[in-house]
Amino acid sequence: MHYLRCITCGKRYEPTDIVYNCTCGSILEAVIDLNETQDVFDGNNPSVWKYQSFLPVTRRASLHEGGTPLYESQNLKGDFGYRRLYIKNEGENPTCSFKDRGMTVGVSKALELGMTKVACASTGNTSASLAAYSAHAALDCYVMIPSGKIALGKLAQAIIYGAKVIPINGNFDQALDAVMTASKAFGIYLLNSINPYRLEGQKTIAFEIYDQLGEVPDRIILPVGNAGNISAIWKGFKELKAAGITDSLPVMTGIQAAGSQPMVRMYKEGLDTLIPEKHPETIATAIRIGNPVSWLKAFNAVKESGGLMEAVTDEEILAAQRLLASTEGIFVEPASASSVAGMQKLLACGAIERDETTVLITTGHGLKDPNAVTESIKIMDPVDGDMNTLQRILGE
Ligand code: F0G
Repeated sequence: MHYLRCITCGKRYEPTDIVYNCTCGSILEAVIDLNETQDVFDGNNPSVWKYQSFLPVTRRASLHEGGTPLYESQNLKGDFGYRRLYIKNEGENPTCSFKDRGMTVGVSKALELGMTKVACASTGNTSASLAAYSAHAALDCYVMIPSGKIALGKLAQAIIYGAKVIPINGNFDQALDAVMTASKAFGIYLLNSINPYRLEGQKTIAFEIYDQLGEVPDRIILPVGNAGNISAIWKGFKELKAAGITDSLPVMTGIQAAGSQPMVRMYKEGLDTLIPEKHPETIATAIRIGNPVSWLKAFNAVKESGGLMEAVTDEEILAAQRLLASTEGIFVEPASASSVAGMQKLLACGAIERDETTVLITTGHGLKDPNAVTESIKIMDPVDGDMNTLQRILGE
């Protein structure tokens, strides 16, 4: 059995309550009975549902999510002087982002509660994922997106899976406000990461890393937007330790875009509350978020793990995206490349060590946002395909 608990005042809620915020205004987390969990960490066939004993749902709406590769870096590792550097590539999920882990559990919960309508606000990936899982589970799906500010591939996904796409005038933060009000008013189940069941699915990233690596890494580096994923992964590692399966924890390292870095400011300025950024801007549209809803969970994850937060510029993000693709053969969207850019920056200033076992989380596939590449990297002008021309170009 599990229950929901307010992360600030500790008030308890039951699994049948449809509730996202505590009466005190703070947010909720799921509390799992770790005595009921099973040690299935044998290195074989990782997937979200392999760890079902850690998941607080009985139904299962699945598109075979999780089980993403943990690549050992071949070339970047040496370039940066690492001994052990890994890339957990979440772009290899059914809708090509880590959101599928949260949605398989969140949509299963919607079915358990008997909900027929689901909704989210999204910078793109959440909407693509919810749309797919809703199609699979035959639920009506409504997604609110910041008008003109989501990547083309993600918009195409939401449309083709049959969601009702509602562009909102404003940014993600305004779309989230709108969907939260609408879902309460119209009895629609909200599946943004303020819903604690989403994070329960996403914590399986931690389980898979441990399962695939055979040990807990020293450091996890990942992009931070609405701040759910860093919180979820930290919860996963903490549960593994509390269940007696592991005996150490990684250091959580969160990266934001320079034009959208409210959590980095909070960390660097030593604030104890978040000051939202009113006009977030970055080419990494997935993390173009000024008022992250899970800021307190993420802040606690960084603090408890002795972690840190850093910001990277759009130029650094695009360079890192190209570097990862051209050295490792892994094409990720700009937000995901911020993990790599953050690692580079933190190594350069001596804030992190090369002898650590480090896992970079790459959160979404590069093909979701092809414009980010075609608009930033120039290809040559067209030529005739005759042998003279080709000989000149190929240098024969
Ligand atoms: N990377 C990608 C590719 C994302 O799509 C997101 C979030 C993040 C990182 C940040 O994760 O919000 O848990 O801190 N995308 C959300 C969306 C907001 O609507 O798709 P977070």
